[in-house]
Amino acid sequence: MATAVTPARHALRLLALAAVWVSVAAAAKVPALYVFGDSTADVGSNNYLPGSAVPRANFPHNGIDFPTSRATGRFSNGYNGIDFLALNMGFKRSPPPFLSVANKTNKQISQGLLGVNFASAGSGILDTTGDSIVAMSKQVEQFATLRCNISARISREAADDVLSRSLFLISTGGNDIFAFFSANSTPTAAQKQLFTANLVSLYVNHSKALYALGARKFAVIDVPPIGCCPYPRSLHPLGACIDVLNELTRGLNKGVKDAMHGLSVTLSGFKYSIGSSHAVVQNIMKHPQRLGFKEVTTACCGSGRFNGKSGCTPNATLCDNRHEYLFWDLLHPTHATSKLAAAAIYNGSLRFAAPVNFRQLVEDLS
Ligand SMILES: *[C@@H]1O[C@H](CO)[C@@H](O)[C@H](O)[C@H]1NC(C)=O
Ligand SMILES: *[C@@H]1O[C@H](CO)[C@@H](O)[C@H](O)[C@H]1NC(C)=O
Ligand SMILES: *[C@@H]1O[C@H](CO)[C@@H](O)[C@H](O)[C@H]1NC(C)=O
Ligand SMILES: *[C@@H]1O[C@H](CO)[C@@H](O)[C@H](O)[C@H]1NC(C)=O
Ligand SMILES: *[C@@H]1O[C@H](CO)[C@@H](O)[C@H](O)[C@H]1NC(C)=O
Repeated sequence: MATAVTPARHALRLLALAAVWVSVAAAAKVPALYVFGDSTADVGSNNYLPGSAVPRANFPHNGIDFPTSRATGRFSNGYNGIDFLALNMGFKRSPPPFLSVANKTNKQISQGLLGVNFASAGSGILDTTGDSIVAMSKQVEQFATLRCNISARISREAADDVLSRSLFLISTGGNDIFAFFSANSTPTAAQKQLFTANLVSLYVNHSKALYALGARKFAVIDVPPIGCCPYPRSLHPLGACIDVLNELTRGLNKGVKDAMHGLSVTLSGFKYSIGSSHAVVQNIMKHPQRLGFKEVTTACCGSGRFNGKSGCTPNATLCDNRHEYLFWDLLHPTHATSKLAAAAIYNGSLRFAAPVNFRQLVEDLS
C-alpha cells in the first residue's frame, strides 16, 4: 500500500522543488555546483574549524574588494576563481561552505540542492597534507552524507538526475607539492616521478568515489606554476622561481590530464574539462601589460621580500592598485587575476581548457 502512494508523493515533491529552483536559480545553467579542493577554492570552510594550525583569511585586508568589504575566509581581496566560474554559470557567486549550509534559512540552500563548497585551505590530494583541515577524502565523505539526504528528500532517481547535470569542480594539488618539497628540496628524478604518480593515483580514486556517488561532469582546475609565487621567490637567493616546485607541478598536471582522459574512456557518462590556471598565470607573467597587470612578482598584501614572507594580516603592507597585481598574498591570486582566469577557462580556447571548455561541459546535454 505504501508503495502505491510513493510515486505520486515523489511527483508532488518534484513539482514543488522544480518551482523553487526556477525562482532561486532562474539564470543558472546547471542545477548545482559542488566544489572540492584547497585555498584556491575555499569560501570560508575553515572559519568553522577549531585550532590555531588552521589556515584562515577571515580578517582584513582579505575581502577589501568583496561586496561590503567583508572578509569571508576567501584568500583574495575580492572573489576567488570559483566565484567567477559560478558567475559565468549564472549563479551569484560560489555556493556557501558545506559547514555553513545547515543554518541557512533558504531550504534549497540548506539542503545543498543549489550546491555546496567543501574546499578547505591547507588541504591536498593526500590525507597527510595539512593539519586540522578537511582533507580531500573527508570532503568526499561529506558529499556522500549530503547526497544521502538529497536522495531521501527527492528520491534516488531524482537525485541521480540532478547530480548528473551538476558540475563537480576540483581545485587541489599545490599543497601536496609544497609539503613534499619542504621535506626534501632536492629530490631525485625517480623520487619526483614516484611522488606525482602516487598523487595521480589518489586523484583518480577521489574522482571515482565522486562518480560512484553520482557525479558525471568534472571541472578540474590544474595547479599554477607555484614555484613563482611570492613565497617561494622569497626563499630563493636570487628571487627567482623555484624550479623543482614548477617541475613537480608540470608532472602532476600532465598525470591528471592523462588520468582524466582515461576515466572518460572507462567510465560510462564521465565527462570532464581541465581548466588550466597554469596556462593563464604563465600567460600573465609573459605579457603583463597586454593583460592589464603591472606587478607579477610581488604580492599586494604581505610582508618581507616580495611581500612573500607572511600572509595578509591587518598589519601587513597593502598595495593601492590591487587590480594591477597578479598576486594578492604570498600564494594566492588577486580578484583581477581570478576574473581573467575564469573567463579563459569558462569560454576560452583549448590552450586554457581542454578537451572542451567549462561552458561546453556545462552545455553538454548528451
Ligand atoms: C548554527 O546555529 C546554531 C544555533 O543558532 C549555532 O549554535 C551553531 O553554531 C551554528 N552553526 C554554524 C555552522 O554556524
Ligand atoms: C542530513 O539530514 C539530517 C536529518 O535531517 C541532518 O541532521 C543532517 O545535518 C543532514 N546532513 C547533511 C550533510 O545534510
Ligand atoms: C587507489 O585505489 C586503488 C584501488 O582501490 C588502490 O589499489 C590504490 O592503492 C589507491 N591509490 C592510492 C594512492 O591510495
Ligand atoms: C602583525 O602583528 C602580529 C601580532 O599581532 C605579529 O605577530 C606579526 O609579525 C605582525 N606582522 C607584521 C607584518 O608586522
Ligand atoms: C564565448 O566565446 C565566443 C567566441 O569565442 C563568443 O562568441 C560567445 O559569445 C562567448 N559566450 C559566452 C557565454 O561568453
